Amino acid sequence: MAILLAITGWEPKAWLERFRTLAPERDVRLIPDVGDPSAVRYACAWKPPAGLLATLPKLQVIFSLGAGVDHLMKDPTLPDVPIVRIVDPDLTMRMTEYVVLHVLLHHRRFKLYDAQQRDHVWQENSDPSASAVRVGIMGLGALGQAAAAALRPLGFQLKGWSRSPKDVAGVETFAGTDGLKPFLTKTDILVVLLPLTPDTRNFIEYDLLRGLARDGVLGGPSLINAGRGGLQVEADIVRALDDGTLTGASLDVFQQEPLPATSPFWAHPKVFLTPHNAAQSEPNALSKYVLKQIEQLERGLPLENVVDRKLGY
Ligand code: NDP
Ligand code: OXD
Repeated sequence: MAILLAITGWEPKAWLERFRTLAPERDVRLIPDVGDPSAVRYACAWKPPAGLLATLPKLQVIFSLGAGVDHLMKDPTLPDVPIVRIVDPDLTMRMTEYVVLHVLLHHRRFKLYDAQQRDHVWQENSDPSASAVRVGIMGLGALGQAAAAALRPLGFQLKGWSRSPKDVAGVETFAGTDGLKPFLTKTDILVVLLPLTPDTRNFIEYDLLRGLARDGVLGGPSLINAGRGGLQVEADIVRALDDGTLTGASLDVFQQEPLPATSPFWAHPKVFLTPHNAAQSEPNALSKYVLKQIEQLERGLPLENVVDRKLGY
């Protein structure tokens, strides 16, 4: 009943150490040391090598070590076993921090005051109150709803958009294709927390950005994307920033990661850029989450946060 850690792109040693410390009785392996593949029942994966999971004949569950599962779904050989994703307070709080931070950076026009400091300019500008600013959250799942709950006490007008209709306290909600335009026209700061699926790939493009509110108190809309880079058409974001369609952007995720040195985002004066660390997966919290689910499963209880493979999230 071995657990295989199939992790690339992150330092895997801390994960191995945590799993072995928390579950010393279990056989925990780290790729490339798969050992006998037929002993592996559980795979804990982050960007596993393509085809690897299909070589495990007795695999029962795949645990994504992140909230997103696009890194798994892109493998055409992915075995047909349940995929469990992370929904955990540690990861959720990290994303909430990121969203609150970046909404405030745009709301309080941090780039402007930063430039003033560098130029030794002492000047107050007219700063709108949060209650005059509309924050639209695309994706009202675990992370979108938590971000909304943290933004609410600050007084922002909150809008939310999802695939299926939602009732979220303090949020004016919109759903599906029909709800998209009315959602965008009421959004000054767009927060993207969508999963990357065939339906959402390249979704954040120029026409969508043109649909954001033009009548807001911040002088134009801004974009925050912490979902996935594959959601955004990067040339369109640059165009929108350069022609004033967007006043600013916070980008944590990119089409290609690490972001190539040639990307115009690195030096763009209107961009806050972070290296896909809006909500890091923390080995201690998340290995506990996975081990608890394995114990529950072995006691005959259902798995939680199982991905809908048809929808892709
Ligand atoms: P959830 O699955 O809980 O929520 C996804 C939300 O997106 C749901 O509200 C869903 O609608 C909505 N959605 C999905 N497809 C569509 C669509 N076609 N049209 C409209 N709405 C859609 O995911 P989480 O909130 O846990 O995570 C969201 C994403 O955040 C992850 O998939 C991952 O890509 C990203 N992420 C990024 C991190 C980072 O560090 N940058 C860290 C963690 C996650 P409905 O409610 O109707 O199903
Ligand atoms: C995740 C991520 O999906 O870190 O959890 O991107």
